[in-house]
Amino acid sequence: MKIAAITAYGGPEVLTIGDVPTPVPGPGEALVAVVASTINPVDVKTRMPGTPQQVGSLPAVLGWDIAGIVITAPSGSGWAPGDRVIAMHPPTPDGAGSWQQYAAIPAARLAPAPESVDLLTAATLPLAGLTADQALARLDVREHERLLVTGAGGGVGGMAVQLAAARGIKTAGLVSRPEHEPAVLALGAASAHSNPVTAGEFNAIFDTAGIFEHPHLLREGGRLITVSDDTIPEGVNQRAAGADHNYVQHDPRRLRELAGLVDAGKLVLRVAESYPLSRIEHAHRRAEAGGMLGKVALSL
Ligand SMILES: NC(=O)c1ccc[n+]([C@@H]2O[C@H](COP(=O)([O-])OP(=O)(O)OC[C@H]3O[C@@H](n4cnc5c(N)ncnc54)[C@H](OP(=O)(O)O)[C@@H]3O)[C@@H](O)[C@H]2O)c1
Repeated sequence: MKIAAITAYGGPEVLTIGDVPTPVPGPGEALVAVVASTINPVDVKTRMPGTPQQVGSLPAVLGWDIAGIVITAPSGSGWAPGDRVIAMHPPTPDGAGSWQQYAAIPAARLAPAPESVDLLTAATLPLAGLTADQALARLDVREHERLLVTGAGGGVGGMAVQLAAARGIKTAGLVSRPEHEPAVLALGAASAHSNPVTAGEFNAIFDTAGIFEHPHLLREGGRLITVSDDTIPEGVNQRAAGADHNYVQHDPRRLRELAGLVDAGKLVLRVAESYPLSRIEHAHRRAEAGGMLGKVALSL
């Protein structure tokens, strides 16, 4: 089977297409034919020299999102050959991530793919959807409160805007450029801003963009959750009743519910651009350039 692996830490040129044997599923694992994956910021960060997120050994297959078809599944797992599935599948210590044509995945980590979209689109859901959902759960925003999502045009931010708006939370989106404001309003934001100085003051902030130079955005006694890598400055900590990082966790049961929201028309998945696996280097360059509304998807 074909894989896209990094052979060293470095620029996009370290990404190489290789051939390896199809994995043999272990106990409790399903074999999934991977139809699609994505490129997330974590993949770019993991590839970089000096990354704090080093993989166990090189060459290593990266990628966190899988959408595909079950080939074999353990009996009693609830899955059968032919099932359309999605999973969050980060790189394992032995260097097996999502950018490979077949993956052996614990069957308990699979969720049904949304039925209303193709698998390329479905692949954009697991990491970004779970990240947004879990951060919002920690913020626990009440209906009378105002929420700001930073990086609202991006993969995680765009999910967060939709999930919060669907719960009736008055949500503002902060984007990197004015031309992204209409798209964030279309996702259900009550307001969209590209200038943090004039955006206002909020009870709660879900920060996906690492924006801490504007502490006035957070009301005194407000709450902030960030998924950026940046250290939360003392000024923000002092202002906030609570400010913390959040790290995504596996939750296939909730992933199933998010897929249901997609099928119910309550969560829109956005593919900004798609590339075949053979063009992984180009796909990385595109993802790194930014400025997109949605994810870079990969077809395998
Ligand atoms: N902790 C965790 O568990 C976890 C999980 C998933 C993701 N993450 C992290 O969360 C971050 C976002 O991920 P993602 O998948 O959503 O990435 P993404 O799709 O690239 O979105 C990031 C968005 O932030 C925007 N942005 C950048 N600077 C901004 C600014 N100053 N003001 C407003 N918006 C700004 C970007 O706009 P432009 O493209 O126009 O610059 C982009 O729309 C990444 O750092 C990722 O590594 C963490």
